[in-house]
Amino acid sequence: MKPNAPQAPDLASEGDVNLSPRRRQWEREHLGPATAQLLARDAACFLHQSLSTPCFNAVKSASGIWLEDVEGRRTMDFHGNNVHQLGHGHPRVIEAVKRQLDTLPFAPRRYTNEAAVLLAERLVSLAPGHLSKVLFAPGGAEAIGMALKLARLATGRHKTVSMWDSFHGASLDAISIGGEAIFRRNMGPLLSGTEHAPPCDPHDCLYGCGGLCNARCADYVEYMLAKEEDVAAVIVETIRCTDVQIPPPEYHRRLRAACDKHGALLIYDEIPICLGRTGTMFAFEHYGVIPDMVVIGKGLGGGVFPMAALLARGDLDIAADRALGHYTHEKSSVGCAAALATLEVIEEEKLLERAAALGTRARERMRAMKTRQPLIGDVRGIGLLLGIELNDPATGAPAKAKAEDVMYRALAAGLSFKVGQGNVLNLSPPLVISEVDLDRAFDIVETALTATGGP
Ligand SMILES: Cc1ncc(COP(=O)(O)O)c(C=O)c1O
Repeated sequence: MKPNAPQAPDLASEGDVNLSPRRRQWEREHLGPATAQLLARDAACFLHQSLSTPCFNAVKSASGIWLEDVEGRRTMDFHGNNVHQLGHGHPRVIEAVKRQLDTLPFAPRRYTNEAAVLLAERLVSLAPGHLSKVLFAPGGAEAIGMALKLARLATGRHKTVSMWDSFHGASLDAISIGGEAIFRRNMGPLLSGTEHAPPCDPHDCLYGCGGLCNARCADYVEYMLAKEEDVAAVIVETIRCTDVQIPPPEYHRRLRAACDKHGALLIYDEIPICLGRTGTMFAFEHYGVIPDMVVIGKGLGGGVFPMAALLARGDLDIAADRALGHYTHEKSSVGCAAALATLEVIEEEKLLERAAALGTRARERMRAMKTRQPLIGDVRGIGLLLGIELNDPATGAPAKAKAEDVMYRALAAGLSFKVGQGNVLNLSPPLVISEVDLDRAFDIVETALTATGGP
């Protein structure tokens, strides 16, 4: 076989792949001719790739927690690519975007604009500690690339330590530090000097900590930094989003100490989990550890505009004669207006408090479900970042086919969510969801689990 010939996809990845027989079955059972025709036209003109085209359905409108497909079926969106803290089409965001479109639809890069400056000032005022400088980018992967460049320039070193199974975006530099086979396999040479460590995965720890994490994986990172001596940065998702891996406080404290000891910068990737998902503005606030840089994105654009940002220590402003980003839509007037409105809504609607309170309610429900559903091996969550891990009750092995089946059953019943790493139901509801809808979503999950049955 040629090295780059298609191979069976690895389901245990960033999301559900689109080539599975279970997906085909769902399509046969649920799609009418109008959708089938649109999907066929989509598949005819878009390049195919494993996590999108061919798509499985076509959406017509999105509002609040709801997606509506072209056949009028309404689905609660607990996936939303994590842009949907405010739900879809929040009126305040839409109004801000419309207003900006009418006056300043684009700002050429040599000009600044008021929305961009206001947003930068606002983000810096929200960020704890010394994170006092900002750069915007049109997407998370690009912002990660800026962080990598800045780390090289600031340290004079080029190596990085990042984690297996992590995701930092789909560009070549981001997949070089990322740790998922579906992005890296057969891609040819990736960035050099990108070394990988085992992730902090308290529930399936390589060091066998058995759920009582002893943060030995953080000690291993320190071991790597000591051996190499010339690592520019440690880059890590503060909390891994795909399968909701929540490190203990000790993990991040040890990473911070190891970076300080060996002169490496600590970069947190909070692209999908920043701005309230975990109950705080930045997820690292749960840990009392401040990174040298943090990358945010996704919901920053209010779910309507591609926006990401790098926040860095003020004294890392050392690249005045280089181009870190230089993206066409760098200080997008419309994106910045959307982001400002988003931050206002988070504050005014008290979405941080809401995420924390609803998260407590959700975790109670998940724990109760675990006592009734033998397939559930573990439940975990922080704020409204929620995960239900499905394992074979007899062997403890990841119940991947069951997880996929639960996802398609839930979709049929009106709830969309992603499956992370093959066997974790990743539930990311909009933070504006009502208690009633949240409970209804869990009813759907539980009904799907019951219908899927045992091993
Ligand atoms: C943790 C993490 N980092 C980076 C990215 C990349 O962001 P974008 O898709 O905006 O490039 C994602 C996107 O899913 C992500 O989840």
